[in-house]
Amino acid sequence: MSIGHVKLGELIKAARHDNLEALKLLPDAVDLSRVGRLPFVVAQSPTSAHRVLVEDAESYRKPLIVRQVIVDGLGENLFTLDGERWLARRKPIAPVFGLNNLDALASLIRATVDDVVATWTSGEIDIQEAMTDIALEVAVRGLLGVDEHSAALASDVRRAFEEILEWVSYRFNEPLSPPPMVPTSRNRRMKRARAELQRAVRALISHRRPRSTESFDILGQLLHAQTESGGELTDEAIIDECIGFLFAGHETTASTLTWALYELSLRPELQDAVAAEGRQLDGTAEPVSPIVEVLKAMPVTDSVMHETLRMYPAGITIGRSAKRSTQLAGTTIRGFTLVMIPVYAIQRSAELWENPDDFDPTRKHNEAEGYLPFGLGPRRCLGARFARTEMTIAIARICSHWTLSYQQDQPPRPITAPSLRAEGTLNLNLDRRS
Ligand code: HEM
Repeated sequence: MSIGHVKLGELIKAARHDNLEALKLLPDAVDLSRVGRLPFVVAQSPTSAHRVLVEDAESYRKPLIVRQVIVDGLGENLFTLDGERWLARRKPIAPVFGLNNLDALASLIRATVDDVVATWTSGEIDIQEAMTDIALEVAVRGLLGVDEHSAALASDVRRAFEEILEWVSYRFNEPLSPPPMVPTSRNRRMKRARAELQRAVRALISHRRPRSTESFDILGQLLHAQTESGGELTDEAIIDECIGFLFAGHETTASTLTWALYELSLRPELQDAVAAEGRQLDGTAEPVSPIVEVLKAMPVTDSVMHETLRMYPAGITIGRSAKRSTQLAGTTIRGFTLVMIPVYAIQRSAELWENPDDFDPTRKHNEAEGYLPFGLGPRRCLGARFARTEMTIAIARICSHWTLSYQQDQPPRPITAPSLRAEGTLNLNLDRRS
């Protein structure tokens, strides 16, 4: 077990400029780095990440800053809860994201992607903005079940949600800014948006409750699971979870889709192979079913998605705070120590990956060897299957309609804001595929 050190001053200086720059300061080939004299360590090797997130997960919780900002902006949800209450909520919700609902959701995802893509025209497009649009549209339809007939409600949800998201990003970047009880105009706007969003989801719940057995979207399934949840899934809990899913699911997916399409735009042949897989889903009448079989028939798109998640993990780091004294990489971690798992650095480490900065979909993406875009262990991403299905279908359908090319001189610069985005706009050229 080897321990490295990073100087606090240098880390702060680099992080002020760019979080990705700061990750480059981590020493190579160590299991754990200590940051100055602070109760702050970086669990850098797959073994120590596994220890924190899986084997010794009981000794850690989410860091206070993460919990607080999310609770203030979005309410209590799976992301922020801990211990018994987290388990009591995760148990009834987990099956809702299981395979049973996925076939119907996959049809809906395909229809949503096709609808949005049909509005595109040849020429330049800011693919980052377009993917945010697709991810939000899929989230609003697939998670909340808002259909095209309730367009007004969908736009209310989106507007309020975007306002809250802006506030959450601001608080993460400016942790010393006035907390929500201080009535600044930003805080007031956030509270108004949150009340509006809660009202919209509450209205959806009362409209949908009588028909919950018929619907396959996540909200409908949560209402269905409510009776068996032993009282944990109250209406308020369902509202908070739905808002939490919008948060957890839309920017992460949008960012991954953006980078996947950028990498494909540089590789016409790979794009053709993905397009051929996407054409298997032509014809909108019949459901996409069974989705497990459909996805198996799309191995190229699947590998493009995994390689994108390796090179551009939307969550560049995962944070934990030690609940008590524990052991990690042969050293003692005291209670309250902040432990960071640098997903981006692990997935780009030259110790673990050959030519880590090359986009190579033919690699093996193995969780035991440093591939952890969805986290690991009991707090692993609940929406991973939903996200993988959405991204595979979206990438393949987009390529089946359009060819994409990148015509700028410089490559886009990844920044963290807070998920991994391209700085400014990311423009691709679209040509309709014959
Ligand atoms: C590319 C897409 C996505 C990525 C990269 C991603 C990544 C992650 C990661 C790394 C975690 C673990 C955080 C931690 O351990 O602290 C997580 C948790 C979570 N994700 Fe995702 N996510 C994605 C999409 C989604 C979607 C679409 C949903 C919901 C529809 C979702 C819902 C959640 C929830 C509820 C949790 C918290 C689970 C718990 O603590 O019990 N995610 N995600």
